[in-house]
Amino acid sequence: MKTENTVWHPQLVTKPDRAKLKKQRPCLLWYTGLSGSGKSTVANAVDDLLFARHCHTYLLDGDNVRHGLNGDLGFSDEDRIENIRRISQVAKLFVDSGLIVSTAFISPFQSDRDMARNLLERGEFIEVFIDTPIDVCEQRDPKGLYKKARAGEIKDFTGIDSDYDVPSAPEIHVKTAEQDILACATQIVNYLYDNGYIG
Ligand code: PPS
Repeated sequence: MKTENTVWHPQLVTKPDRAKLKKQRPCLLWYTGLSGSGKSTVANAVDDLLFARHCHTYLLDGDNVRHGLNGDLGFSDEDRIENIRRISQVAKLFVDSGLIVSTAFISPFQSDRDMARNLLERGEFIEVFIDTPIDVCEQRDPKGLYKKARAGEIKDFTGIDSDYDVPSAPEIHVKTAEQDILACATQIVNYLYDNGYIG
């Protein structure tokens, strides 16, 4: 627990220094959407395009982070809130390191996404809504989880018996049911270019 004896130590090398070296404006692409919406697929495709342009990036992905850092958390509202709290703190550190960071988590609650936004500086947080209708996600069902949720074998499944707050004003709105992955990824890379995050 942080106490009055815990003192912030300023560092000599700053975020602007690191960003200048990398020739990019650090930011956080915060992907949100239902399970099976395509968050990880689109985030990976964007990462690939950015890598090809010599950008310095890092991707934090839901399932992977739940294998390690957040391996103690489940899917109750309380655990999801803690999941997003830890992720946003880690993402902030990565942004501070000068990277273009992507996080791909359902992050179902607007209040948590707003908390993540408020941790960062103005313009650093880019909410990317992967807007895929639930019937399309359920048809895809890449991990067979919707089938299990419908059968009552998984509880608190997002969109079925756990809430998802649709983003009210995302910076980027991606419709994976209407365009292919490359078009979705290009839409996001174009946003970064048009807004001066990458050259
Ligand atoms: S959250 O809501 O942001 O804390 O969830 P996240 O960390 O992104 O984890 C979502 C992945 O966990 C699997 N999974 C579930 N998702 C939703 N609800 C329940 N109950 C659940 N149980 C397991 C599922 O594979 C999610 O992966 P994606 O990539 O989203 O399909």
